[in-house]
Amino acid sequence: SSSPHPPSSCSSPPPDSHFIGKQKDIVEAGRVTKLVNGCRDVLVLYHQGQLHAMDMCCYHSGGPLQYGDIEEFNGKLCIVCPWHKYKITLAEGEGLYQAVDNPMAKPLKTHWCSKGVKQRIHKVTEVNGDVYVTLNNSSEATESDVYQTERYRTLLLNG
Ligand code: FES
Repeated sequence: SSSPHPPSSCSSPPPDSHFIGKQKDIVEAGRVTKLVNGCRDVLVLYHQGQLHAMDMCCYHSGGPLQYGDIEEFNGKLCIVCPWHKYKITLAEGEGLYQAVDNPMAKPLKTHWCSKGVKQRIHKVTEVNGDVYVTLNNSSEATESDVYQTERYRTLLLNG
């Protein structure tokens, strides 16, 4: 698996990628959700000139990340889940939280910590104005995997 990175100006999509939509449509919409390869609900979003892709349902309790705000915490761009405000980095899918330095100190001081990767991030490729996602098939379990089931998909559809 030490193959060199493909050139960034490649003219055909990666072999195992899935078409999501036209780049201009995704840029305009800002957010697009899609069932990729019949098995994975993926959120593709455009922010500050960059496309990102991740599992659509928040690792905490399955919240709809497509309705989350994007904010910077600790120098990292995060999506903030609309349900319980968990912060997930766009680049790595890390869960961030604020830890208290010293519970006895007043006023309380906090610093940002990472819980590690919690949300599965997928690879986005743009080729000739078309956007493709390559699913992250890492065999390492990620907490957001829990919500990628038929049962959950049905629940979402039924509101
Ligand atoms: Fe996302 Fe709880 S479901 S923060």
